[in-house]
Amino acid sequence: MDQSDIGSDLESVLLSEEQLSTRLAEMAAQIDADYAGEDLLLVGVLKGAVMVMADLARQLHHPVEMDWMAVSSYGSGTKSSGVVRILKDLDADLTGRNVLIVEDIVDSGLTLSWLLANLRSRGPKSVEVAAMLRKPEANKVEIDVRYVGFDIPNEFVIGYGLDYAEKYRNLPFVGTLAPHVYAE
Ligand code: XMP
Ligand code: MG
Repeated sequence: MDQSDIGSDLESVLLSEEQLSTRLAEMAAQIDADYAGEDLLLVGVLKGAVMVMADLARQLHHPVEMDWMAVSSYGSGTKSSGVVRILKDLDADLTGRNVLIVEDIVDSGLTLSWLLANLRSRGPKSVEVAAMLRKPEANKVEIDVRYVGFDIPNEFVIGYGLDYAEKYRNLPFVGTLAPHVYAE
């Protein structure tokens, strides 16, 4: 899927495929350095983190394991409430492991702070976060996101795993939606 397939539904391209991959390479180099000689388990949060996970993992030299979790955040509309339900739990036992949560985007940070508390209660050696995108709202919650791809404006974004009504996840770039799409 590319720009021509989405046509007038796209307002603008915020981050190109090249910008995403360049930044992911820098993040991967940092992660390789930080976890050198250590065990590392990447935990992707479905569904949004699929693209970040696939691309980040392939840019790493470190031999990681990958696992997945699906959570749903109760809330009205597009705002998350911080009340989270596990739809699919991890297969891995986290005892003594270095865990790196891989996220598409940190918005209010409520989902992530719940997830951090949940995973930290399972006896891991460490739990850190890598997020491709972070919105300014995230500053309101005390979350230390160790690896951030890009700080972006407070706009609804799509592509590279992020959806609007489950669509546009397979755009290779991050863009903003044209207002007429919301209005429909
Ligand atoms: P919180 O607010 O708890 O929620 O940090 C983060 C989750 O909300 C979703 N989210 C978005 N999804 N475009 C999307 O497609 C956006 O601009 C956006 N902002 C937040 C996303 O699922 C994320 O994990
Ligand atoms: Mg998500």
